[in-house]
Amino acid sequence: MTGPELVLGIETSCDDTAAAVVRGGTEVLSQVKHSQGQHATYGGVVPELAARLHAEMLPRVVDRALAEAGVTWGEIDAVAVTQGPGLQPCLLVGTTYGSVMAQLKGIPLVPVHHIHGHIASVRLNQRGDWPLPALCLTVAGGHTQLHLVRRWLDVVRLGQSRDDALGEVYDKTAKYLGLGYPGGPIISQLADQGDGGRFALPRPYLGKGSLEFSFSGLKAAVKRHCEQAEVIDDAFRRDMAASFQRTVEAVLIKKLGWALAAHPAVRSMFFAGGVSANRQLRALLGGWAAERGLELGVPSEIALSTDNAAMIAASGWLWAVERGLARAPRHVEPKGRWEMGEWLGGNS
Ligand code: KG4
Ligand code: ZN
Repeated sequence: MTGPELVLGIETSCDDTAAAVVRGGTEVLSQVKHSQGQHATYGGVVPELAARLHAEMLPRVVDRALAEAGVTWGEIDAVAVTQGPGLQPCLLVGTTYGSVMAQLKGIPLVPVHHIHGHIASVRLNQRGDWPLPALCLTVAGGHTQLHLVRRWLDVVRLGQSRDDALGEVYDKTAKYLGLGYPGGPIISQLADQGDGGRFALPRPYLGKGSLEFSFSGLKAAVKRHCEQAEVIDDAFRRDMAASFQRTVEAVLIKKLGWALAAHPAVRSMFFAGGVSANRQLRALLGGWAAERGLELGVPSEIALSTDNAAMIAASGWLWAVERGLARAPRHVEPKGRWEMGEWLGGNS
């Protein structure tokens, strides 16, 4: 596949301001991320505040990404920017900045679907390509989705969470246990030391063969156990973390089994999004895939699992190839810019 050599990726969909330079769609030359700590006092991300901070930080984050990659604006062949889903005011900062810079430099602007970025993240820093079709489980603080990747740009959603995203439930579990944020890494670490059989937690399968997810009942059950506990001590925390982790593993593995049965031509299993940093889940999915003769594709480092701009560049590169946007500076027609449609679905 030939496409633009150097793509600058921009990601501002939530509270991280990120930019990255990626060569040939896969080789990460730099990735810079500024995480906004200012929202902690409000107990959640405030969109207007986040947007103002993006506007302030983005030019600097981009300059640093270029400097760390050792390239200048003049060498960038295309700009890829997250178009959605995400917080509207935040997305607008990234798309406006990306659009203006692409216009000024006379290079293409490629809008990217955030979830497709997560899917494309498994290609980053990998030699060779994954065999397709693939199942891709994308699990983060804001999304839990299962896709069938027929080709890199031919992706069908098989299921998603009807309520809470799994990452959010990791975060809430940690919160109910009086632990810090983000909860995922903390729960993962504690789970190794606890008794996963101590608490019986609901396993939401939603009927045989269903590829939809629902985690609100699991979240409520953890909350109830914590509220009813006489004392939440370290043993309680460890055992709850282990019980929670065991439940999550059972649900995900069951769903993947059903997905594979429905799509037996699948040759690879991808695992992306912030929760794909989970060591136990990676090991479990690795074993599961190996037993079935599937390749396991996971982001090559944790910084590529959580929200980042390199994955946006990776997705943008694939779209640029598809649209024939080679190195020659050429602008995408306005119609082509925003036509990505609903094929990957909404926010959850
Ligand atoms: O992709 P991401 O950075 O942001 C969203 O798009 O939401 O994912 C963040 C989520 C958080 O909920 C965090 O708790 C979870 O990823 N996470 C983990 C681990 N590391 C981060 N969950 C489970 N195990 C981990 N090791
Ligand atoms: Zn994400």
